[in-house]
Amino acid sequence: MAEEERIIREDARYVLGTYVRPKFVIERGQGCYLFDTEGRRYLDLVGGIAVNALGYGDEQLSRVIAEQARKLIHCSNLYYTAPNVALARMLVESCSFADKVFFCNSGAEAVEGAMKLARKWAMKKFGGERAGFVAFTGSFHGRTFGALALTDRKKYRMPFEPLVPGARFARFGDADDAETKIGVDTCAVIVEPVQGEGGVNPAGAHFLTSLAEVCHRRRVLLIFDEVQCGLGRTGRLFAYQHFGVVPDILCLAKPLAGGLPMGAVLANRRVAECIESGDHATTFGGGLVVSAAAIEVLRRLKRPSFLASVANKGEYLLDRLKHLKKKFPDKIATVRGLGLMVGVELSFEAAPLLRQFRERGVLVCTAGEKVIRAVPPLIISKRQIDRFIHVFADILEKRQAAPEDQAK
Ligand SMILES: Cc1ncc(COP(=O)(O)O)c(C=O)c1O
Repeated sequence: MAEEERIIREDARYVLGTYVRPKFVIERGQGCYLFDTEGRRYLDLVGGIAVNALGYGDEQLSRVIAEQARKLIHCSNLYYTAPNVALARMLVESCSFADKVFFCNSGAEAVEGAMKLARKWAMKKFGGERAGFVAFTGSFHGRTFGALALTDRKKYRMPFEPLVPGARFARFGDADDAETKIGVDTCAVIVEPVQGEGGVNPAGAHFLTSLAEVCHRRRVLLIFDEVQCGLGRTGRLFAYQHFGVVPDILCLAKPLAGGLPMGAVLANRRVAECIESGDHATTFGGGLVVSAAAIEVLRRLKRPSFLASVANKGEYLLDRLKHLKKKFPDKIATVRGLGLMVGVELSFEAAPLLRQFRERGVLVCTAGEKVIRAVPPLIISKRQIDRFIHVFADILEKRQAAPEDQAK
């Protein structure tokens, strides 16, 4: 039996069936390419779902990880260690609003942390009445009970209710609607400056500035979830920097430690001051190896020339996709995005196209029912972008219009 077939069979037998996976097995990566056990090569525009910003096989990153692992892998947050302090300092000094950082292990955990900070702030400031949150339609904040409570996906929520109570959803893009959803029981509003899972939807400057004004006036905190859109993805180190508005709390994760699991919650002084020892903790958060990796990642991502190249390639990608839309107006409904985070909304279901991309040696993912999403490693080249566009065009060219498209 081929290695590939054996692994897929054993997965079905031993691994909990929470993921639908295509039938090939990834073995290694280099640059923007992944290779499977059969030696096939794929140009990867998924990037671990917006994780592998520096691509695969980065020698300097591997060296930093190996060196720290040789020195010390873990010792506990009961003790001071140098890498997480250095990383916290780098993060705080990289963004204008934040004063303190809490390290955790994933995006959902960062959101949970943000929720706890907001509740603690409200408890200190107003007593115990303000425990609720306002989130938005199309939002995705993670799969734990708190983060899921703020996630607007019935399918993900329904089987696990009751979730953390007190969440209300306002229309994404509508600050007035958010204001009507803020009650005397609300402690914070949470929003993704560019929605990822909801279909790649940039929030826009007007919406975010109005929202910040509403939050200020109604004395609730503003949380930005930049787990997917943060850390260089949009061509700025933080997505909110496009919009001229700052949050009280910022959630980061995905690319932070270059593919190792790490999340971070950044908070401004008025929030940070409400936190006392014992309020929150996690065994692995800010561990030595992930922190050393994150220092290397952040050092590279924050270089102005690196960010400028992401912005430039992002514009190029969007431009090429807009041309594709002109060529296939009945098949592509809209093209949108910011930097190297783009969504192509089709006039038909997107999932069946994934296989056609794969068969042509390209990996992409979906974001919602009709959107093909590209969140490649930030080191992708324009030639590789051209390859993606060429393959996309070929797929659309060969696709027979389905009856439902013709009806449009
Ligand atoms: C905006 C956003 N927040 C939170 C999460 C949850 O992150 P994780 O899967 O690391 O828990 C995600 C994951 O896709 C996300 O896109």
